Amino acid sequence: MGVLHWNDGLNVGISFMDADHAVAAEQINALAAAGPAARLPLLAEFIDHCRHHFAREEELMGQVGFFALGCHRGEHQRVLAELRQVEAALKGGDARDRYFTEELPGWLMIHRNTMDAVTAEFARTSGYSG
Ligand SMILES: [Fe+2]
Ligand SMILES: [Fe+2]
Repeated sequence: MGVLHWNDGLNVGISFMDADHAVAAEQINALAAAGPAARLPLLAEFIDHCRHHFAREEELMGQVGFFALGCHRGEHQRVLAELRQVEAALKGGDARDRYFTEELPGWLMIHRNTMDAVTAEFARTSGYSG
């Protein structure tokens, strides 16, 4: 049992987003369960996944002319910067347990429920079928 219980009820109806979010949830669960020494390589993989996922969402937003692209992209950039700060903290010997067991899982749920849900709804009603 991880900190996130991802399931089909959390799908937003855009296939690449749903597949990427399920991977992100698995990665966050692994990060939450890992000891401090194991977190660095897992975090590097998670950051890489996020970079690619965010780029895919931003491309979608551009394709469909999403009205809040700048806001959504800004939040992606903010969380990437935060993840890099946490990576630096890990390298400095700080395990950041609460970040991985509470803050990051909470962020994924909020982001899915707000910006990602609105983006997916807009894309679907725009006729996007990816
Ligand atoms: Fe997303
Ligand atoms: Fe997003």
